[in-house]
Parts: sequence; structure tokens; C-alpha cells
Amino acid sequence: MPVNSTKILAGLWFLCSYARVAALSNSFTALPGDLWLSPPSTEPAINNPFVASGPTYNVSSNQVVRVESTTGLNSHWVGHWITTTDHLHFFLITFTNVVGGGGANGCLVYSLETGSSSSSFITDTPTTIGQDRLKIQFGNQYELQSLTDDNISAINVVANYTENNFSLNTTFQPRGSLLFNGGSGSFFWGSDFNQGWASPAYTSGVFTLNGTTHTIDSKRSTTWYDRQWGDTTPTQGWHWFPIQLDNGIRISTWIVPADKGSAIEAFATALYPNGRQEVVSVSPDMKPSNPWVSSKTNRTWFGSFEVSFLDEYNSVIKATSPNVTIRHFGEASFGAGFAFCDSFTLYSGTWKGEKVSGWGIVEQWPAT
Ligand SMILES: *[C@@H]1O[C@H](CO)[C@@H](O)[C@H](O)[C@H]1NC(C)=O
Ligand SMILES: *[C@@H]1O[C@H](CO)[C@@H](O)[C@H](O)[C@H]1NC(C)=O
Ligand SMILES: *[C@@H]1O[C@H](CO)[C@@H](O)[C@H](O)[C@H]1NC(C)=O
Ligand SMILES: *[C@@H]1O[C@H](CO)[C@@H](O)[C@H](O)[C@H]1NC(C)=O
Ligand SMILES: *[C@@H]1O[C@H](CO)[C@@H](O)[C@H](O)[C@H]1NC(C)=O
Ligand SMILES: *[C@@H]1O[C@H](CO)[C@@H](O)[C@H](O)[C@H]1NC(C)=O
Ligand SMILES: *[C@@H]1O[C@H](CO)[C@@H](O)[C@H](O)[C@H]1NC(C)=O
Ligand SMILES: *[C@@H]1O[C@H](CO)[C@@H](O)[C@H](O)[C@H]1NC(C)=O
Repeated sequence: MPVNSTKILAGLWFLCSYARVAALSNSFTALPGDLWLSPPSTEPAINNPFVASGPTYNVSSNQVVRVESTTGLNSHWVGHWITTTDHLHFFLITFTNVVGGGGANGCLVYSLETGSSSSSFITDTPTTIGQDRLKIQFGNQYELQSLTDDNISAINVVANYTENNFSLNTTFQPRGSLLFNGGSGSFFWGSDFNQGWASPAYTSGVFTLNGTTHTIDSKRSTTWYDRQWGDTTPTQGWHWFPIQLDNGIRISTWIVPADKGSAIEAFATALYPNGRQEVVSVSPDMKPSNPWVSSKTNRTWFGSFEVSFLDEYNSVIKATSPNVTIRHFGEASFGAGFAFCDSFTLYSGTWKGEKVSGWGIVEQWPAT
């Protein structure tokens, strides 16, 4: 393509993505099209024969594991990108981690229209661990439970964070193929292997925030369910980019620094709407920019990143959080001065030679 037309196209693309980010940066009522799309497949994930078995483990039978172990990770992370029936946009996360006798649950809440946000991280001991089905319950505080015997086809989260004036009752249903990180669902994580898979999911339910109950518009909402477990946790922290593109492609990108003699792990797993998966190396140089400082913890987080994929097209996808001058979203803190940041972000760039845009988060998890 001649240089001039490349420049013009690049300019147009920049304007389009800028309009989307600008719309989010200020209070808005009208947006250029839907912000995010429901999962590209209507097929329940379990119907895909590759799914229940997975390449290296049985997904259904590993939904509740590691409760006997005293170390590592046993995480269910649920990110909801929601349009309500009243046309409002929210990004909600709930999460739980249960290992041995202990555990934690929490939430992050972000209103795109107002920019207001809140988060909770609650360390507690689960009151119920499901025997026949996935079920993790912390009293009346938080409950994640499978509504089906296969442990994945429909999962319900009910939680109530009174300090945030926030409660929810949502159900998500994994659709299409699952995404197995690294292609097999097993990858090096700090000083040992761990397991991790994810799924786009159909989403329904309600949540109540500051006294107002909102109903999820399932056709204009989506979920990324992330399941991960293993023996260890990287001491050097990590960055995670769950990229969701308008064209239906989902890309789980990890950048995990070298830990205890292991090599750096920087790779992405792309899941295409037809179920094809592709593993691509990633440059560890993710070019963080737009720093902001948390008034709560005095930590510095970044609003923008650039992810460069080491593929044959030199694909590059940029993450941009809405105006970090005025919007400081995503930090959740726990323990003695520890915090991580799951910030809402829009994605834009090129993937395999085509310009793409989408949405997601960036997870910034510092070294311990
Ligand atoms: C996975 O394990 C369950 C039992 O926990 C079994 O019913 C199911 O058939 C297994 N799936 C596969 C594909 O082996
Ligand atoms: C679902 O999870 C429960 C609790 O871990 C387990 O006992 C059961 O075998 C799982 N079901 C399947 C079909 O694997
Ligand atoms: C809920 O209300 C409180 C108090 O007015 C406010 O600080 C907070 O930002 C609101 N939360 C959300 C997510 O709108
Ligand atoms: C959340 O907890 C508060 C305090 O216990 C209670 O008043 C409220 O009804 C609960 N909300 C829901 C939706 O269960
Ligand atoms: C959650 O919503 C479902 C579906 O509407 C309902 O059946 C269930 O009773 C609700 N659970 C709670 C704890 O409110
Ligand atoms: C929750 O928000 C509503 C509406 O802003 C307010 O009336 C109520 O007092 C708040 N409750 C708590 C526990 O902060
Ligand atoms: C915040 O961090 C900066 C840089 O590390 C430091 O100079 C400053 O004293 C800290 N402020 C507070 C209130 O801790
Ligand atoms: C971010 O918000 C500030 C304060 O409203 C405004 O001055 C600035 O222009 C905004 N930046 C962008 C990129 O929209």
C-alpha cells in the first residue's frame, strides 16, 4: 500500500478509536454503537467435545480443587461488562480464591457514565465448599455456585458488599469454545506450572448499587470467566491483558517476569469464534504510560499500555483507560499495604494485519 494511503487509514482509525475513548472520558448519553458485544457463539461451551476434557485436564472435575493445599492459587475471577436495560454501562468484577482453610472474595465496581467506583477485598474462611457441584460460599457475603452438574454450564454469583452499598445476583453461561492459556491450559507461573482457562459467557441478572437496582440487558452484556489454580504464585508479579475484540476474537495475554530461575513468560492465547486457538509470543516491553497515583495506597498505576505480539504481522494492540486524570478506577487493596489494579480499558490496534478495537481490563499485579 502506498505510504500516503497508509497514513490516511491510520489517521481515520486513530480518529475512530479516539472518538470512543473521548466519549468515555466525559459524561455521555450517546455512544458510537454498542460498547461491547455478547459472546460470538450461542452454543453452550460444554457441547464442544474439546471442552469437558480439555487438552490436559478435565474442566468439570477440576472446578473445586486445591482446598486441601495450603499454598498457591485457586481462583474464580468473573468480569462482567454490562449494559443495563436502562442503557447504563457498568464494569463489575467479583472474585474468589480458596486455598486450604482460608480464602478471600471481593468486588470492583465501575460506572462508565459517572466514573465512580468502589472495591472490596475480604479475607475470610469459606462456610461451604460444594461436594457434588461447584459451590464456594462465605456466609451471606459471597456465593459462587454451579446451577448444573457439569460445573460450568451456568454459574451463579450472589454477593453483598454493604461497605460499598453494592449487591449482585448474576448468572453467566460459558459459550463457544473455552480458551486454554498456552493452548493446553497449563503454563509456567512463577516457579511452577499452573492451570488456567477462560471463557466468554452469556450474562443475566441484577445488581443494586447505592439503592438503585439495575437489570442486565443480556444481548448487550458479556462476561469473561477466568479459572486458574496451581501450587505457587509468582513473587515478581505480573501483567494480564484479557483482550476482547469486536470481531469476536478473545486474546489472553500474560507477561510474567522471571522468577526463581525461570524464564520470563510473555505469551498470548487467541481464541477465534470458530474455536481455533493460537499461541503467540509477546514482547515483554509493554510500554506503560499515563501514570496515576492512588490516594488510598500512594501506589502508581498506569492508564495505557502497548502490547506487541511477535507474530508474522507485528500485531500491536494498545490499552487505554478512560481519562486517568480524573478517573482512578481498578485498585483493590488487601493485607498490609498490598494492592493490585484491574482497570477498565478499551483496546485498539492491529491484529494479523487488520485494524481492531475492543474492550477489557489490564491487571497490574506488583511484586510481593
Ligand atoms: C470429566 O469428569 C467427570 C467426572 O467428574 C466425568 O463425568 C466426565 O465424563 C469427564 N469428562 C471427560 C470428557 O472425560
Ligand atoms: C463438580 O464438582 C464437584 C465438586 O468438586 C465434583 O465432586 C464433581 O465430580 C464435579 N462434576 C463433574 C461432572 O466433574
Ligand atoms: C455510591 O455512593 C457513594 C456515596 O455517595 C459514592 O461515593 C460512590 O461513588 C457511589 N458508588 C458508585 C459506584 O456509584
Ligand atoms: C445486604 O446486606 C445488608 C446488611 O446485612 C442487608 O440490609 C441487605 O438487605 C442485603 N442485600 C441483599 C440484596 O441481600
Ligand atoms: C437470584 O436470582 C435468581 C433468578 O432470578 C433467583 O431465582 C434467586 O432466588 C436469586 N437469589 C437470591 C439469593 O436472591
Ligand atoms: C446506599 O445508598 C442509598 C442511596 O444513595 C442511601 O440512601 C443509603 O443510605 C446507602 N446505604 C448505605 C449503607 O450506605
Ligand atoms: C508517596 O510515594 C512517593 C514516591 O514513592 C513518596 O515520595 C511520598 O512521600 C509518598 N507519600 C505518602 C503520603 O506516603
Ligand atoms: C480529562 O479530564 C480533564 C478534567 O476534566 C480535562 O481537562 C482533560 O482534557 C481530559 N482529558 C482527556 C484526554 O479527555
